[in-house]
Amino acid sequence: MNNAEHQSASARSRRDQVIRTIVQEHQGLWRIIDLLDQLQQDMNINATQPDELLFGTIFDYIEHFSKRVHSQPKEIKLYQCLRDKAPDTADLLDKLEKGYLVGHERLQELRDLLHDCMSNWPQGREDFSHSLSRFTQALRKHIKKEEGVVIPRARESLSEEDWVAIIEARDQTQDPLFGERVREEFRELRHQIISMTPEHLGGLGIVHSPRVTAYHDQEEMLAIKGAVTSYGQIEVLHEVDISIKSGEIVSLVGANGAGKSTLLMTISGLQPLNRGQMTYQGRDLNRVAADRRVAEGIVQVPEGRQVFKDMSVHDNLLLGAYTRSRSPEVDEDLEKIYAKFPILRQKRHNLAGELSGGQQQMLAMGRALMARPKLLLLDEPSMGLAPLIVEEIFNTIKDLKKEGMTIFLVEQNASQALALADRGYVLETGKVVVEGTGKELLSNEKVQEAYLGM
Ligand SMILES: Nc1ncnc2c1ncn2[C@@H]1O[C@H](COP(=O)(O)OP(=O)(O)OP(=O)(O)O)[C@@H](O)[C@H]1O
Ligand SMILES: [Mg+2]
Repeated sequence: MNNAEHQSASARSRRDQVIRTIVQEHQGLWRIIDLLDQLQQDMNINATQPDELLFGTIFDYIEHFSKRVHSQPKEIKLYQCLRDKAPDTADLLDKLEKGYLVGHERLQELRDLLHDCMSNWPQGREDFSHSLSRFTQALRKHIKKEEGVVIPRARESLSEEDWVAIIEARDQTQDPLFGERVREEFRELRHQIISMTPEHLGGLGIVHSPRVTAYHDQEEMLAIKGAVTSYGQIEVLHEVDISIKSGEIVSLVGANGAGKSTLLMTISGLQPLNRGQMTYQGRDLNRVAADRRVAEGIVQVPEGRQVFKDMSVHDNLLLGAYTRSRSPEVDEDLEKIYAKFPILRQKRHNLAGELSGGQQQMLAMGRALMARPKLLLLDEPSMGLAPLIVEEIFNTIKDLKKEGMTIFLVEQNASQALALADRGYVLETGKVVVEGTGKELLSNEKVQEAYLGM
């Protein structure tokens, strides 16, 4: 090959690379649209109530497309180049860009309709179903236009420099259509969708809690009534009432020494209950020993992480599964933890004591997850961590909720903990003084003054 031939071959390969990326993303989206059709059929023909979590995740996925592009459709490099080189496509590109904006709004409507449909089932099904059909139709049209017109026109009119510029936009990770990070996020969402999709529709059929938001008819997971606990003569918790429903994140905030950790240890069975009642999934907990509670799904991540510093990361994780016998399932769970926290995989042979604070917190959470918690008790997971890591920890908590886990979160970082929570409690010197939804607490004057520094 002479030099000129070589150059044009590499230009062709850049072009093909870009087009392949787009087509691959389209294929992913196309499969998801098909899945939506099937779920819709299931809902209409078999009159089964939609799986809110699965639908929600699919909407997240599509929203990711529209949101990434929503605020910045003008920044799609491919569109920019095409406007330049093939001005007659401007009308179509305008339309497609507008489609991203409108699609974003329609998606919010769909979420609301889904919510109504869940709360008033079977009323609201038709409205939801109609809007869904209109939505998927529009989406299909959009993809067809990109595949049928945008890509062929780009193929014939863009120059070598254009393709290089598009590739560069892609490598900058932020391009709305091609950025590396954006695509990574798509992959993660697809992974979640596939896991939750029922087997008869080609998914993995992972069992997850069916409802996340309609918690008025959710079952109670933990009920604490009139709990009194003391260290020796000193009473620390005075008649505490708390209830946690399945699938909720409930946050508990309060000053130093209020008794937050004591309450968590009482739930775990590490601290005896002097008076009062605790029921878990409808059963009295009072006589259930601490390790039995772990086996039944009440798992605590203690304050200050408390990993075993002289043991490897891997062995720390295995210890989390101590109430279970070693089985292929344990290995699968290990794999899942490593997938959730890639840094732990990378450091699996390191001693836990060699990890940074943030990494140790992830290890502590990973170890708890190895016990397959149903109710996860987190004691100040953000304590002493840098802001970026705090965000990461809160994101992980959000993901766990999405997977259906119920979470009781103790935090001094009140604003973030309440923003995340479905409901929350404020504990002052061993007494619950305020309770309400996360939103209510955030706007409560007393809470703002005492805990949000306002
Ligand atoms: N092992 C113990 N023996 C005696 N008193 C204790 C013990 N642990 C805690 N206390 C006391 O019980 C009260 C509640 O402590 P606890 O650790 O539950 O509070 P907390 O809300 O978790 O505080 P922090 O924000 O500091 O973690 C405090 O007055 C504390 O001094
Ligand atoms: Mg504490």
